[in-house]
Amino acid sequence: MVRKAILDLLAQRPGTFVSGEVISKKLNLTRAAIWKQIQALKASGYEIDSLTKNGYRLLKLPLSLDEWSIGYELRTNVLGRELHLFETIPSTNDWVKAEALKGGAHGLVAVAKEQKGGRGRQMRAWVSPPGGLWLSVLLKPRLSLADASKLTLLASVSVAEAIEAVTKVSLGIKWPNDLLFNGRKVVGILGEVAGEWNTVQSIVLGIGVNANLSRHQIGEEIQADTLQEILGEPLNLNSLAARILEHLEKDLELFERQGFASICERWLQRAVGIGEQVQVRQGKELFLGIFKGINENGEFILELAGAEKVFAAAEVSIRSESGIYF
Ligand code: BTN
Repeated sequence: MVRKAILDLLAQRPGTFVSGEVISKKLNLTRAAIWKQIQALKASGYEIDSLTKNGYRLLKLPLSLDEWSIGYELRTNVLGRELHLFETIPSTNDWVKAEALKGGAHGLVAVAKEQKGGRGRQMRAWVSPPGGLWLSVLLKPRLSLADASKLTLLASVSVAEAIEAVTKVSLGIKWPNDLLFNGRKVVGILGEVAGEWNTVQSIVLGIGVNANLSRHQIGEEIQADTLQEILGEPLNLNSLAARILEHLEKDLELFERQGFASICERWLQRAVGIGEQVQVRQGKELFLGIFKGINENGEFILELAGAEKVFAAAEVSIRSESGIYF
């Protein structure tokens, strides 16, 4: 692709001029064709300086999602090495699931600028307008069935740390895997199994980050927030996507090599609501107790009349004294 080739050339020496002549010779393009491509790049958010005498120089990459910029930033071995960016799609999770059934590879990533049928946990819709980061990754980890269910907890830690690396914003984790800022949800994670559990394990991890959005775009009435509101300015979504994939890749390796212990510890450091009174619903039963944390299986520990009862991620909904909380 010409656009990619021009960017590759300019990015070899960011901040310094590359002459039109060099670009023209290397890519076999006329000066007019180069100029046209540069205008298109500028329109999609690249800041490029052009001087008739000196040529072109790359000054800044776009903040909005852009395939070349994600690739330029990405320092992973596998995750996101095959990446598809969609302008609009029903749901990146659905797309990756379909690819998984067709034999898609471990690490395959779909990113969308907008989702029209974004899905959340418990069959809820996930509002996904342009400006957010809507990303799904296909994982075929070397993990047992029991361990695989801890992946969404792992993802919550990786994503929180990636967001902190990019923005300095520290998010809390609401069990099992929502990321919160001052009690408002900023990130949701949806882990789904593609195909049969007992054949090759393919897990689709969907990550929705309310990033460059205003609060009213996601619905003021729901307890949600956005990074742009928190920061007071938009952030670079390409850096964010790259950092998330890097953190995920590293943490997955750690999990496969050393088990869940260190990830569990990092999860607990960010946990919201530990020591608080909560109400847990399991089917028709209700339990009132104190949230003690999670165990090595990622299960929720509730203290009930001096004894401990554990709940698996899939089966409970929890309320704090102040209303729906978990
Ligand atoms: C939740 O309910 O908290 C989970 C929300 C997960 C949303 C993400 S956005 C990317 C991926 N595609 C989807 O349709 N859902 C997930």
